[in-house]
Amino acid sequence: MKMRSISKTFVVALTLLLSITLFAEGGRTPLRAKNGIVTSASHIASQVGVDILKQGGNAVDAAVATAFALAVTWPTAGNIGGGGFMVYHGDDGHATTFDFREKAPLASTERMYLGLDGLVVDNSNHRSLLSVGVPGTVAGMYKAHQELGKLPWADLVAPAVKLAREGIPITWELYSGFRSNQSFWDQYPSSGAVFLKEDGSAYELGDTWVQSDLAATLQLIQDQGRDGFYKGKNAKMLADFMRANGGIITEEDLEKYEAVEREPVRGTYRGYEIVSMPPPSSGGVVIIEMLNILEGYDLASYGHNSAQYLHLLTESMRRSYADRAEYLGDPDFNESMPLDRLMDKDYAATLRASIDMDKASVSDENEYAGIYESEETTHYSVVDKDGNMVSVTYTLENGYGSRIVAEGGGYLLNNEMGDFNAVPGVTNRNGQIGTTPNLIEPEKRMLSSMSPTIVARDGKPVFAVGSPGGRTIINTTAQAILNLIDFGMNIAESVEAPRIHHQWLPDVTSFEGLGFSDDTLRLYEEKGHQVRARGEQGSVMGVYYDRDSDIFLGAADSRAGDGAVVGY
Ligand code: DON
Repeated sequence: MKMRSISKTFVVALTLLLSITLFAEGGRTPLRAKNGIVTSASHIASQVGVDILKQGGNAVDAAVATAFALAVTWPTAGNIGGGGFMVYHGDDGHATTFDFREKAPLASTERMYLGLDGLVVDNSNHRSLLSVGVPGTVAGMYKAHQELGKLPWADLVAPAVKLAREGIPITWELYSGFRSNQSFWDQYPSSGAVFLKEDGSAYELGDTWVQSDLAATLQLIQDQGRDGFYKGKNAKMLADFMRANGGIITEEDLEKYEAVEREPVRGTYRGYEIVSMPPPSSGGVVIIEMLNILEGYDLASYGHNSAQYLHLLTESMRRSYADRAEYLGDPDFNESMPLDRLMDKDYAATLRASIDMDKASVSDENEYAGIYESEETTHYSVVDKDGNMVSVTYTLENGYGSRIVAEGGGYLLNNEMGDFNAVPGVTNRNGQIGTTPNLIEPEKRMLSSMSPTIVARDGKPVFAVGSPGGRTIINTTAQAILNLIDFGMNIAESVEAPRIHHQWLPDVTSFEGLGFSDDTLRLYEEKGHQVRARGEQGSVMGVYYDRDSDIFLGAADSRAGDGAVVGY
């Protein structure tokens, strides 16, 4: 009898212990957990994801719940009015992706932002309702859930409804984000109604922020799935709002929007399999092209972030970003993109042969320059108890997107149309890319740099990473991968390590100001590189499965103030 009650007590205690949530903010020590991990830019959203795992949900269930939670808690990029990409890799070897990138509205035209002088009028591709692409997030989450989810859909949306309805605390990130966008809240009444208090004053640190309209929209989505957003009340409300305020998205646009399941792009790197997002994201192709070039060097022997390593890294970035500008766009509108060639090892060898070990190449001036891109996106990663992984990057484009809230809907609308090449044929060092694959066409998806990636070995996922950061995303993600594979860092060290960015044109390398020594930079500059200090680059959220000890590790980049890795 006694033995029995002891063992029962023991089992109860063990069960309690096992369900205790483990939690860590950024730092160099990974969180270790036995049953699953979610890491995101919002500690509340990571917790929501882990709660779903605890309820028996799989990685896709947790990813769906986390997406909706982020739409409430992380309005700078978490969204239902934007779009993005999900990469899935099951422990059984099945890998797939979901493309829920926004689309150009049916009424859009190639030159829709240009005035008579051929220039973009008033930044209209980034501002105003004309900059809004047809949102994809709800359709993407719904499709992923239909294909791979396990728990009922309603259970996954429920936590977000509750958070919006009952309110969340105003953190420093929310407080400062709201303040820095004050002029937009003053300009757009529907936004002021969400981001200012009822009396028109600003939210203070520690206030409770309730989003009633968003709660109602999420409730529609909870009850009706995809159709709750793309049909009926919300669709009519959004289309009416567009019509009344100069936008062009119609109920037909919404009705026609479909997320697409796509084959991932795949490469190999030193025995690992790189599984990433295909076009309309450029991320996967460019990462694989870069890694193929770098595979020909013994990078570890140079030392992490040594001048020689940074030189080779830069040269691989320069060449791969040039191809990005020339060839990539929406695959549904560009049938002849040379993806296989760009990701081919022999092609990488020819590019490698053009790299001088001691001297920087010069980016060709005549062609494709980098336009401004904002850095406000968000990435999160999930691993469930079975070792299935999900890697999601989604965005509104700018921080808080267009800053315009759909009246009555309570959600921010993206300004993703700015990711198209707005001026056909005009490509110059001052900021335009005018190449054909990414020109505006009705129902086309704009080219993206978002790079949710899963790295596997022998068909089984090992780690998932990704980052925000506009065009820097690709380089940030690639460096996290290199840190793990070449330099033996753990997942936390790999997301924290200082990073650089070069995107072919402008021909300059930006580096995180606090992360590199003067001596290293001097040696690097002596090779002919131009450098520019910047603030933080990206924010990587990563999970890792140590199969030898059967433990999951996760890390939230400390660059994300509200971020946290949660596991159990
Ligand atoms: O899709 C893209 O590449 C961009 N619209 C992402 C925007 C972005 O990353 C902003 N910030 N992090």
